Amino acid sequence: MHSFGYRANALLTFAVTILALMCAMASISDNFNHPSPSAHVEVLNINWFQKQSKGNDEVSMQLNISADLQSLFTWNTKQVFVFVAAEYGTPKNSLNQISLWDGIIPSREHAKFWIHTSNKYHFIDQGSNLRGKEFNLTLHWHVMPKTGKMFADKLVMTGYRLPEEYR
Ligand SMILES: *[C@@H]1O[C@H](CO)[C@@H](O)[C@H](O)[C@H]1NC(C)=O
Ligand SMILES: *[C@@H]1O[C@H](CO)[C@@H](O)[C@H](O)[C@H]1NC(C)=O
Repeated sequence: MHSFGYRANALLTFAVTILALMCAMASISDNFNHPSPSAHVEVLNINWFQKQSKGNDEVSMQLNISADLQSLFTWNTKQVFVFVAAEYGTPKNSLNQISLWDGIIPSREHAKFWIHTSNKYHFIDQGSNLRGKEFNLTLHWHVMPKTGKMFADKLVMTGYRLPEEYR
């Protein structure tokens, strides 16, 4: 009995060591993957654009979000969280960042997509700064690995502008 218990314990220790080693190798090999994601967001239409009774500007728009994030996926990738944000400066804040849409990509097969959608979250400015405002759209991603550290990055798309008038 004594020797069986000892061997079982030794086996377990060995298994745990191998597992730890595999996890370390998985996160190291992940660092050698240099992903090259691409994305494009088109503003297809401004649904409406108005000043709320509280004085804040709000805009609703149709977006066509297309992206190829397949290169973010390695065998160590559990899933990828993505979000699209509008970014612009105002006299009060040099950077305002407003999340417009997000999603979870469960696998490489789903990582090349386009989606025609209106903004899922409100595009509201705390003030009335949006008329004629230039803004950027950024696609952010957070890669959640099976083991190891999460990493995040983004693509910036420039040159968008809101209408001069409410509609
Ligand atoms: C959205 O963009 C994709 C890729 O650029 C394109 O194939 C598709 O036709 C576009 N859809 C709409 C509704 O504009
Ligand atoms: C958009 O992004 C570019 C490049 O990062 C930056 O120089 C520019 O100031 C940004 N524009 C706005 C309106 O935030």
